[in-house]
Amino acid sequence: MAFVGKGGAGKSTMLAQCLAYWDSYGVSCIGIDTDVPGEDENGTLYEHAQLADLGAPVYPAPAVHQIRNEALRLCPQKGLCALDTGAWERRSGGPHAAVLSAVDLAVLCLQPTGNEINRAGSVLNAIEQLRATGARAPELVILLTMVDTSAASPDDVDDELSKAGYTVLRSRYALSNGRDGYAQSWGRPVRIKDGSNMDEIAREVLDVVAR
Ligand SMILES: Nc1ncnc2c1ncn2[C@@H]1O[C@H](COP(=O)(O)OP(=O)(O)OP(=O)(O)O)[C@@H](O)[C@H]1O
Ligand SMILES: [Mg+2]
Repeated sequence: MAFVGKGGAGKSTMLAQCLAYWDSYGVSCIGIDTDVPGEDENGTLYEHAQLADLGAPVYPAPAVHQIRNEALRLCPQKGLCALDTGAWERRSGGPHAAVLSAVDLAVLCLQPTGNEINRAGSVLNAIEQLRATGARAPELVILLTMVDTSAASPDDVDDELSKAGYTVLRSRYALSNGRDGYAQSWGRPVRIKDGSNMDEIAREVLDVVAR
């Protein structure tokens, strides 16, 4: 499976924590980081795994054309292989196209704001296009992230997406104003059990995988 979505949707932070939870549930899982960081960037999944013990191993980005083979090679038997992706960009020959055609499940991490929803159309189209051409295409579920829990819009967005036939996960990833929310920007280790509902998110994603 893979976490996909626009830059800053919380993919790497959530996946680092999910891996730690899945590992603590006894699931054999691995992470593969398909995001190749630039010189000034931090907070990739691979970096999180170097800074904190996630339990599960995390591998750095394979060559784009090797992503599926590497995932198959590294994935433990009957285990779960989770791919983190960088900020979404639709480019043939890029890592995102390779990831989408490599996985069985894509979790679209989506902040429920008008702007982000418009921009998510590109991800949805890319999956539709794979289906239309008969290529391998992943099942898609949507995880609402960076959610302002005091706003009405997340419920409206959830309703609209569900009405349009998309599967929206019950759990949501809340925007945090606390220092842990953005601590990783400064290269601090991701906090695993941070009092958030990440265990609920980890379990729900796992349920979808198990289906
Ligand atoms: N719940 C949260 N509330 C507020 N900020 C958060 C939260 N979780 C993570 N952040 C911060 O938001 C930024 C983006 O998070 P993260 O790196 O996980 O997103 P991403 O989707 O992996 O981004 P990219 O596509 O650039 O890789 C980071 O600085 C991170 O520390
Ligand atoms: Mg990231």
